[in-house]
Amino acid sequence: MVKVVLKEGINWVGVVDWNIKDFHGYNTNRGSTYNAYLIQDEKTALIDTVKNTFANELISHVNELTSFDKIDYIIVNHVEMDHSSSLPIVAKLAKNAKIISSERGKEALIKHYGADFNIVETVKTGDEIKVGKRTLRFLEAPMLHWPDSMFTYLVEDKILMPNDAFGQHLASSERFDDEVDQHVLMEEASMYYANILMPFAPLITRKIQEVVDLKIPIGMIAPSHGVIWRKDPMKIVNAYLKWSAMESKNKVVIIFDTMWHSTDTMARAIADGIISQGVETKLYKLRSYAISEAITEVLDAKAVLVGSPTLNNQMFPTLSSFLTYATGLKPKGKLWGFFGSYGWGGGAVKGMIEMAKKAGFEVYEPGVEVKYVPDEQDLKKCFDFGQQIAQKIKL
Ligand code: FEO
Repeated sequence: MVKVVLKEGINWVGVVDWNIKDFHGYNTNRGSTYNAYLIQDEKTALIDTVKNTFANELISHVNELTSFDKIDYIIVNHVEMDHSSSLPIVAKLAKNAKIISSERGKEALIKHYGADFNIVETVKTGDEIKVGKRTLRFLEAPMLHWPDSMFTYLVEDKILMPNDAFGQHLASSERFDDEVDQHVLMEEASMYYANILMPFAPLITRKIQEVVDLKIPIGMIAPSHGVIWRKDPMKIVNAYLKWSAMESKNKVVIIFDTMWHSTDTMARAIADGIISQGVETKLYKLRSYAISEAITEVLDAKAVLVGSPTLNNQMFPTLSSFLTYATGLKPKGKLWGFFGSYGWGGGAVKGMIEMAKKAGFEVYEPGVEVKYVPDEQDLKKCFDFGQQIAQKIKL
């Protein structure tokens, strides 16, 4: 392995997963990485492990730098299996290592890997481990991403290792932020935030404030996925503050599906109405785009319009999936509108409105419904609907 040095004595020993396209349902078109770090001082600490399919690669990376019996600590910042499923293998090799996690991490490790993990030692916010001239300080970060999550801060090196937070699903031969295309980097960072961390927006704002209050300087952020923020770590911190505040712009995203193009035609007429007001819009037909791509567009949109044909008195299944996903991710402060076509009984628009209201979304009513195929009058209704939504968000 070509050495990846964060600072002298601190190496990346993770793996690149070039070919993962489906990360538990989230389309990771650019792959991902599982980052682990080795700190070599008077003592040696391994920060996180990797997905078990790549355990051998992690082992080989570590073996190039040290032998496993020299590892004194394995720090488990997060138990989700992309970071811990090779731990049982690694722990057997690192016979002298203490395994360190949060209290809830220990509970999760035992549930995942059995009672052997009763030996785990737990830490809480503010606890420190000296590994020589370096100090590891821990900061619990529940729900970023799971209840067990914690950050490890390397005090003297000013490096924050926050596991999932500030990550990106981005496979690359480069390991640092200043080495990759900035547009691609931020696109993946925003998609990652929208699909993984959006429901925890208030916690993120509070956690960042907590870090600011602790007055710990951040020289580098080394997350568990994607590249390491060494040139401009505040770029991603500021982006998280913006996304967590749900800052949005005059943009309407239209997410729909269609059977015989009636709902598609409606979506296009609605888009014309929006554009006529000088407001940006984007159309996402599900089955052409993944739900994870569509939800990312919601992040900075002021309004979301969802269109579905009626199938057997219900909304189309792709829209049902999208709305289930969206209501779980809880995008705050958006205006939602609904439209769709039907043949006889209808039901899609009504069902979608009910679902959105139940989730606490602000719904613009009434929606627009068209029987069979939209005629001139129907298309005018759609155009007007788009205009009204655009005018409302511009206020
Ligand atoms: Fe990357 Fe929550 O695991």
